[in-house]
Amino acid sequence: MCGIIGYVGQRPALPILIEGLRRLEYRGYDSAGVALMERGKLQISKSAGRISVLEQMLDMQAKPKAGIGHTRWATHGAPTDVNAHPHTDASGRIAVVHNGQIENDRALRTYLERQGVEFRSDTDTEALAHLISRFYQGNLEQAVRQALHEISGAYAIAVVCSDEPDVIVAARNGGPLLIGVGKGEHLVASDPAAILSHTTQVVYMSDGEMARITPDHVHMTTLDAIPVTREIEEIEWGLEQIELDGYDHFMLKEIHEQPEALQDCLRGRIEARSGSIHLGGLVDCTRELTRARRFILTGCGTAWHAALVGEYLFEELIRTPTETEYASEFRYRNPVIDDGTVVIAVSQSGETADTLAALVEAKQRGALTLGVVNVVGSSIARETDSGVYLHVGPEIGVASTKAFTAQVAVLAMMACYLGRRKHLSPAAASQFITALEQIPKQIAEILERAGDAKVVAERYAGFENWLYLGRGYNYPVALEGALKLKEISYIHAEGLPAAEMKHGPIALIHEGMPVVVIATSGSQYDRITNNIAQVRARGGSIIAIATEGDRQIAKMAEHVLYVPDTPEPLQPLLTVIPLQLIAYHAAVLRGCNVDKPRNLAKSVTVE
Ligand code: F6R
Repeated sequence: MCGIIGYVGQRPALPILIEGLRRLEYRGYDSAGVALMERGKLQISKSAGRISVLEQMLDMQAKPKAGIGHTRWATHGAPTDVNAHPHTDASGRIAVVHNGQIENDRALRTYLERQGVEFRSDTDTEALAHLISRFYQGNLEQAVRQALHEISGAYAIAVVCSDEPDVIVAARNGGPLLIGVGKGEHLVASDPAAILSHTTQVVYMSDGEMARITPDHVHMTTLDAIPVTREIEEIEWGLEQIELDGYDHFMLKEIHEQPEALQDCLRGRIEARSGSIHLGGLVDCTRELTRARRFILTGCGTAWHAALVGEYLFEELIRTPTETEYASEFRYRNPVIDDGTVVIAVSQSGETADTLAALVEAKQRGALTLGVVNVVGSSIARETDSGVYLHVGPEIGVASTKAFTAQVAVLAMMACYLGRRKHLSPAAASQFITALEQIPKQIAEILERAGDAKVVAERYAGFENWLYLGRGYNYPVALEGALKLKEISYIHAEGLPAAEMKHGPIALIHEGMPVVVIATSGSQYDRITNNIAQVRARGGSIIAIATEGDRQIAKMAEHVLYVPDTPEPLQPLLTVIPLQLIAYHAAVLRGCNVDKPRNLAKSVTVE
C-alpha cells in the first residue's frame, strides 16, 4: 500500500527520502515520487514503476534540506507518471502526498472545476492540493486545516509549501503516521521502517490530529486546533530486523526467524510449572472475558486463518461459543452483537481497512473489543479496548509467515488463560503450556530439514493446480498452505477440510496432481489416511505432512515431510512450516518476485 516519508532538518533531504522510499517498497507500490524544497520553489520528480526509475531522474547531490516522498498503490487512476504523488496545486507552490481515499473526491473535483481549476491527474489527492491552495494565505498549517474540514474519507498526508521552506504539515485520519524525532531534524512516515536508520524516537499520531513539523519543533493539534501533547516513544525494532541479513528474501528470513520470534512472543507470558499464563493486556478485562457468552474472531487472509485456529482453541479450552468471520463480511452484514459478545481483531499490520472497520462496527454495537496485533501503536491496536501484541518484530515479506505462527500462539495463550478461569484443570493447563514451550525448538528442528520442502517444490512447481487437505486444527493450515502457494508462485491452489473433497472437488483430481495432506497423529489420523487413499485411487500425488516416527504414512505418500509430535491444538504451529517452505521454493523456481508478488500489498489499507 502507499507509503509516506518526509524530512526537514540540516542534512540533504533527497538521500533520506530515497532510502525511506526503499524501506517502504515492501508494502507494494506502482509509482513513486518526491518533492524537494529548493530556494523558494518546489522541485517535483515522479514516475510510474520502480524507485530505481525515479532515481534516474534525480540529482542525488541536490542540496535541499526538506522534502516529502511517496510510494503509490493505484486506487484512483492508473499507475502512471502523472498520477504518481506528490500532487501540486496549479501554481506548483503546494505539494501533497497522501495515503488513503478521499470519499467526496467527485464533489470536490466538480466544485473546483467550476472555479476554473484544471485537473492534470485522475487522483483524489490532486483535489486536496488545489483546495489547500485556495485556503492558503501565508500559513500552511491553517490552510491544510481548512481544507481537511471539507474532506471526508481516510487519509494520512504530508504537505509542503515553497513559501515555508522548512515546514511540513502532516495530518492523520484513518491511516498510520508517525513523526521521527532527531537532533535538529524531524521525519514523518507512514511506517517506522522508513525512518529507523535515522531515529528510534517517535511520536505516533492519532486520527483527527495534525502536526506542523520544523527542524526544531513539532506542534501537534487536533483538526480543530486544540493543542495535543504526546509522549515520545521508542521503536522496539533494530535495523537488522528490516534488512536481509544474508538471506535471499525477507520471506525466507522470516520463516527462519520463527523459532526466535515465537520465543519472543512467549517470553514472560507462560509458566509451565504452575500452569499459568500472564497476559498484561487482559488483566483489566479478565472478568468480562470469562463472563463472555460469545467470541467473534475476525481478520483477513492469513490472519483469518489464524483466527480459525483460534476458534477451535477457544471452543476446546474455554468452552464458550466462538465464530470466525471475514472482517470484510462482518462489517457489512448487520451482525448480532450484544453486551456478552467479545470481538477479537487479528492483524499483523494493525492497519487492514476491513478489519479496522469490523472493529469499529463491533464497538459501536457495544462489544468489548480486543486486538491480536503485531505493529505497536497501529490503528487496530489503538482502537481496541485491550489486546495482546505478537512481539515478533517487523514482517517485511508480503506473504505473512512469522505473524501467522505468533497469532496462533497468542490465541493459544488466550485460550489457556481464559480456560483456566473456567473449565481447564491446572494439570491440563500445565501440560498445554509445557508443549507450547517446546514449539520454538521444534520449529528449529523442522527448519534443519528445510531441504525436504525444496525437493517437493522442485518436483511439482510445474503443476498449475494443487490441493491442500486438513482436518480439525489442520484444516485452517490447509487453507493457509494454499494461500501461501497462490500468492507468491501464482499456482492455483485450493485448501479444503479433507472430508469436503468428496462433495465436489474430488472431480479435480487427475494423474500426478499434487495433493498436500496434513496427516499428523491425533484424533483425525484414521480419517485423513482414508482421504489419502481416496486421492491415490484417482492418481493424485500425495505430499504428506506427518508426525515424526510415522512409518506407515511413507507407504501411502510420494513425499513425507515430518514434524515433531505435539498435542493437536498446537499442531498448526508446526505443520504450517513445511507449507511455507514449499510455497517459497516453488515461487523461486518459477522466477516469481517472492517478497513483492504481483498485485499484492503488505498492508491493505483500502477497501
Ligand atoms: C497473506 C497475507 C494477507 C494478510 C491480510 C491481513 O500472506 O499476508 O492475507 O494476512 O491482508 O493482513 P493483516 O494481518 O496485516 O491484517
